[in-house]
Amino acid sequence: MKDEVPAELQAITDKLRAQAPILGLGYKKSRLDDHLFDRLQSHFFDSVDKFAKEQHVSFLQSDTGEIHPSLVYIDEAFNQELLQQLHSRHEDWAGRKLKLSGCFGPRIYTRGSFLYLHTDRPETHIVSSTITIAREVDEPWPFRIEDHSGEIHDMIIEPGEMVFYEGAYLRHGRPQPLNGNYFANIFVHYAPVE
Ligand SMILES: [Fe+2]
Repeated sequence: MKDEVPAELQAITDKLRAQAPILGLGYKKSRLDDHLFDRLQSHFFDSVDKFAKEQHVSFLQSDTGEIHPSLVYIDEAFNQELLQQLHSRHEDWAGRKLKLSGCFGPRIYTRGSFLYLHTDRPETHIVSSTITIAREVDEPWPFRIEDHSGEIHDMIIEPGEMVFYEGAYLRHGRPQPLNGNYFANIFVHYAPVE
């Protein structure tokens, strides 16, 4: 378990987090509706040949030292559509009007990948969710989040499930190296209109 965040990465998080609004929402697990999940999964399996190594992301590393930690394939039109389709669900959860910030992914994490606890961009990635598309794992690969009281929660997010979370303020990651062939997810991000 990569619990100990390197000092230089922790300093980045501390700086960003200090600029984040605190909404007090926390996090919540939910499900995609079946139709949208089917679409997301078919889009993923249809485009699996198009994935390429993702640029270096400092918080995302691999404990194998030889396997690249992540692959990504960005289909901007598809991502915008997903962001639109999930807009009202995020507004309902957040209890306020939100504007669209962006959708990242789908990303494939490879064996040995881990993601240090971090926070997201304070201007734009304020109300977010992580959605599991597909995975082939030898053991569950938990998403970890620290709630508003500082308590740590490990959550298993199965394909078709999503977790809403306050990404710019609550520290989150996947500090346990992935024991499995791959894990694919996608993120959507929104920000309060005010
Ligand atoms: Fe994040």
